[in-house]
Amino acid sequence: MRIIGVTDYGQMSWKAASLLASQVILKRGSVLGLATGSTPLGVYRCLTEWYRQGLIDFSGAFSVNLDEYCGLSPEHNQSYAYYMRENLFRHINIRPDHTHIPNGMAADPGEEGRRYDELIRSLGGVDIQLLGIGHTGHIGFNEPNTYFIAPTHRVALNPLTIEANARFFASEGDVPRYAITMGLGSIMAAKRILLVASGEDKAEILYRSFFGPITPQIPASILQLHPNVTVVAERDALEAIRAKAPEMIEDGFPNEAAGLG
Ligand code: PGA
Repeated sequence: MRIIGVTDYGQMSWKAASLLASQVILKRGSVLGLATGSTPLGVYRCLTEWYRQGLIDFSGAFSVNLDEYCGLSPEHNQSYAYYMRENLFRHINIRPDHTHIPNGMAADPGEEGRRYDELIRSLGGVDIQLLGIGHTGHIGFNEPNTYFIAPTHRVALNPLTIEANARFFASEGDVPRYAITMGLGSIMAAKRILLVASGEDKAEILYRSFFGPITPQIPASILQLHPNVTVVAERDALEAIRAKAPEMIEDGFPNEAAGLG
């Protein structure tokens, strides 16, 4: 596992975007596993900017998103389909039919989960999976006490997650109670994992996820078993790791630290 430390949100976004861009550039037909939430927004802004500058061509790329709220159509402005269109897809040249998000309106969520995992398999698997991390240690919408082997499936959202996501809705009562998410088994099947974190409120859960026991109570802790994980996090989010295991943090911009940046 690599933990790349950077000084601020802009650097975090730049660094993570450069890892995603390198995947797209190296392999036409790359399958990007994408995430929503506030943390990846800067990553998507960087990718958009580099596309505009002609540095990246997404025309051969595919994307699969982690999750979607149940009951929200792709047109709903809080759906993750809408988020992805607005924050990335409509700004770059990825083909709309190459972008995939679980169908939150599916009548049979179990069937939708099976379809989605089969789709990912048919694309050859995820080359690099971008992840944020929730305060509960959730990744995707895999809340504490989920099964490590779970495929894509329907989940009931944890009250803490509903509270955290209420900021995007008119009221907490409007936050959907269920979502369809890639399970931890589906996430662990990705060839590479790229987890981004920002803010001191993520510091403790980052430490517990990567340096504590591997337990379903902290879903992200399963990533300790993945052979290719890169964490890109800014200073505040790394406070607890820096206090206890500073030798594990790699400097994301070493020239700058040496006064060469
Ligand atoms: P955030 O969400 O990026 O909005 O903090 C992260 C998550 O819940 O996965």
